[in-house]
Amino acid sequence: MKLRRIVFISSMVLLPFALAALAVVGVLFARQGGFAPYRVPQGGTRTVANDAATLARGEYLARVGDCQACHTTRGGAPFAGGRAFATGFGTLYSPNITPDAQHGIGDWSADEFVHAMRHGVSRRGVLYPVFPYAHFARVSDADLDAIYAYLRAQPASAEEPPPNRLEAPADSRRALVAWRMLYERPGQMPPLDPNDRGRYLVEGLGHCAMCHSARGERGSLPAQGHFAGGVIPGIGWYAPPLDRIQLERYSDHDLADYLRQGTSAHGSAYGPMAEVVYASLRALSADDALAMAQYLKQVEPAPLRPAPADVHGDAVGGKGADLYGDHCADCHGKDGEGKPGAYPPLRNAVAMTAPDPINAVRMVLYGGMPASSTGNPQPHSMPPFAQQLEPEDIAELLNYARLRFGGRDSRLSADDVRAMYGLVVD
Ligand code: HEC
Ligand code: HEC
Ligand code: HEC
Repeated sequence: MKLRRIVFISSMVLLPFALAALAVVGVLFARQGGFAPYRVPQGGTRTVANDAATLARGEYLARVGDCQACHTTRGGAPFAGGRAFATGFGTLYSPNITPDAQHGIGDWSADEFVHAMRHGVSRRGVLYPVFPYAHFARVSDADLDAIYAYLRAQPASAEEPPPNRLEAPADSRRALVAWRMLYERPGQMPPLDPNDRGRYLVEGLGHCAMCHSARGERGSLPAQGHFAGGVIPGIGWYAPPLDRIQLERYSDHDLADYLRQGTSAHGSAYGPMAEVVYASLRALSADDALAMAQYLKQVEPAPLRPAPADVHGDAVGGKGADLYGDHCADCHGKDGEGKPGAYPPLRNAVAMTAPDPINAVRMVLYGGMPASSTGNPQPHSMPPFAQQLEPEDIAELLNYARLRFGGRDSRLSADDVRAMYGLVVD
């Protein structure tokens, strides 16, 4: 009798809290799109055009979306998946998206494909946001259909990617529903207008924000960090902000050339950006590259963007200056001005102005080779210095160079440099 009364009274007290919690869950669930994402349409009879012009358009769009780079492993069949992605919670492998019915997406209808691209949910369950579906969601139906038609026209492959190696709770696709409730806001990402070409390509298929935005909690991409730049999780490279301040030194045409060729008078693409140029942007038409450049150059700086560096020139001489003169000035110029057409300037280069020195250290340790492209068929490369310079020297040299050419006071120590010896060379 007594026990029942206690249970009754306490449930009356707790009820409002329970209802409030339920209401919060309801609101969050509605914000991530309600039930719609989880209703995966299987089957369906909608047919999609697959004439030569559509296939060619699909191929071009798939290049802009960089599908092949993420869905192919080194030496593996194109689109057969298996490429590893290091995340903070383990390793994930991309799936096979060739037309193989068993191992790929051969028995997917056009509607199921479009659904996966728009909502990031497939018959396998909720998909990890390494797949840039939040960006692909904003692409037009006609363009997604053309990509579908193109993928279906590729050779089928029965290759099977290795199983993911993820820690709990990230290993559960159901746990991703909670992630989506916290961070997924499709309502704030409306469809893009295909006629507003530059924005359409940059914010949609180009998914540039995947690397160039600041990350929030648990790998989320908060709106305040859009194009604010940051260190890319898992691979340890810094991607700069993409906005009118960062890109001021490029004219529209310089920037369009950079995108298609990976080099320009103001900088050269290396590391993951060289791969993006090689696998994707090098295929851009001149008009599309220019439209993207024009769009990027007028992006307003995001609230989370770090302040630009602008104190140049007060780097003192000493050992850093001597090391620079001995090892770097031949290519990058005495004043960091570079050699047009051959070696990029260091003055105002990303690795110099970046708040994080990681790119500069990586380049000096391991060197680099820009992507070859029609506009730059035989790129000059940079030699590695890991065997030639001691960590102490690299730290002093870069502290000097970053202050002089980028206005950044990095205070790197030999230990900071040593800590980067173990970075994955990709
Ligand atoms: C940044 C890398 C990346 C890019 C770029 C990318 N994908 Fe993916 N994609 C992935 C990963 C990783 C997964 C698997 C996610 C998972 O297992 O939850 C995936 C999943 C998919 C799926 C779901 C497959 C299934 O079996 O559930 C489809 C379809 C797909 N991608 C198509 C594409 C297309 C088309 C493009 C180009 C427009 C593309 N992807 C570009 C990484 C990428
Ligand atoms: C896989 C990660 C990744 C993706 C995706 C990516 N970038 Fe980059 N990007 C980088 C990194 C890292 C750098 C810095 C290294 C360098 O300058 O080459 C960079 C540098 C740049 C620069 C040079 C900026 C400067 O101040 O010189 C531009 C411009 C650029 N990216 C544009 C783009 C555009 C446009 C897209 C989308 C079509 C894109 N990036 C997609 C990683 C990426
Ligand atoms: C033989 C010529 C050569 C020498 C010597 C050389 N570099 Fe480079 N450097 C290059 C080339 C070429 C690139 C572009 C590489 C790429 O795009 O992958 C580059 C790129 C860079 C970058 C990236 C610039 C950016 O846009 O962010 C940095 C930083 C850099 N070098 C620093 C140095 C330093 C410091 C030294 C001296 C220790 C040095 N380099 C010596 C040729 C050279």
